Amino acid sequence: MSHTLNIPMIDLPRVHQPYQQELDAAILAVVRSGQYISGPVVHNFERQVSSYLDAPVFGVGNGTDALQIALMVLGIGPGDEVIVPAFTYAASAEVIGLLGATVVWCDIESQNYNVSADSVEALVTSKTKAIIAVHLYGQCANIEAIEQAAHGIPIVEDAAQAFGAVFTSGKYKGQKAGTVGTFGTFSFFPTKPLGGLGDAGAICTKNAELFQSANSIAKHGQSSKYVHDTIGVNSRLDPIQAAALTVKLKYFEASINAKYAIANRYKEALTGLSGIQLPITTDYSTHAYHQYTLRVKDNRRAELALYLKNNGISTMVYYPMLLSDQQAYKHWGSDIELTQARMATEEVLSLPIDESLTLIEQQYIINAIHDFFS
Ligand SMILES: Cc1ncc(COP(=O)(O)O)c(C=O)c1O
Repeated sequence: MSHTLNIPMIDLPRVHQPYQQELDAAILAVVRSGQYISGPVVHNFERQVSSYLDAPVFGVGNGTDALQIALMVLGIGPGDEVIVPAFTYAASAEVIGLLGATVVWCDIESQNYNVSADSVEALVTSKTKAIIAVHLYGQCANIEAIEQAAHGIPIVEDAAQAFGAVFTSGKYKGQKAGTVGTFGTFSFFPTKPLGGLGDAGAICTKNAELFQSANSIAKHGQSSKYVHDTIGVNSRLDPIQAAALTVKLKYFEASINAKYAIANRYKEALTGLSGIQLPITTDYSTHAYHQYTLRVKDNRRAELALYLKNNGISTMVYYPMLLSDQQAYKHWGSDIELTQARMATEEVLSLPIDESLTLIEQQYIINAIHDFFS
């Protein structure tokens, strides 16, 4: 390849460029308002997200807190087991340990990297108190199948990576990721589908009592000012983040559509290459393309990643190691083989798919991949 471009996984300043002035103004308005904790900017964002998701939502400090607070409301503690996939980001599991409960690792489906309902079925015991169904890479886990396997055990949807994904069949058809479980939790980490300019997150539940408890726990367990009914945490959505997120929510559908277009071009150009498997869209969910993740066959992932790097193209491996192999978590086990999860750690490779990726840049990435396999 002749001319080398430099293509990061995501270029946030460039993503923000079309509405940078709006972002600047929204943040400056908070700076000048004197209202730095809670207040109308936060409430307005919460209303808008609730309306977008068609389910009640409130903001918290980040997606990890959102998960922890959901588990606290469910009363998870020592002696309880929580099932979580071994192939996900650490946060999905660490909150279980933080509350003194026991992690039980489940496997994933080979097609979409999400919780395998069959593996959940094999792991449920009388001690199982919750299942964390991660919607990895932007696609919904099969919540209906997991529900059937879980026999009434609460499901917490970890929708950190799947804001905007939609269930497309079955009883949840038309509903959005994070709105159908007992709880849904979101991260607005800057690179996430809806990303702030720092840490931020949200919790969703359609159960008014659970909503009230979670909202109270996020604010020091208080029911009214200086009245504390339960032990809580300090996890409030920051008004500056809420201001930025309100602007970004306006452009969110456009960003999803831009990612669809990029994903479609990747699909058209890379279908048929025998060394890779492209992401598969299941028949029960849209794909929000938080990541565009290939499987690289024949043990050639590192070689391909290096070839792309040498041509200025960034890639990432989400995730190179099973959580069950991590030093911090390996004292927790599983009664099943984590075959698909392990295979995924060895084969996945994510390509750049931010909405500001240009046609020229994408063609350059596509050409590089073809060159590698030719
Ligand atoms: C699947 C998953 N769960 C939870 C989190 C935690 O979110 P946060 O970084 O906002 O705490 C993340 C993001 O990093 C994630 O990818």
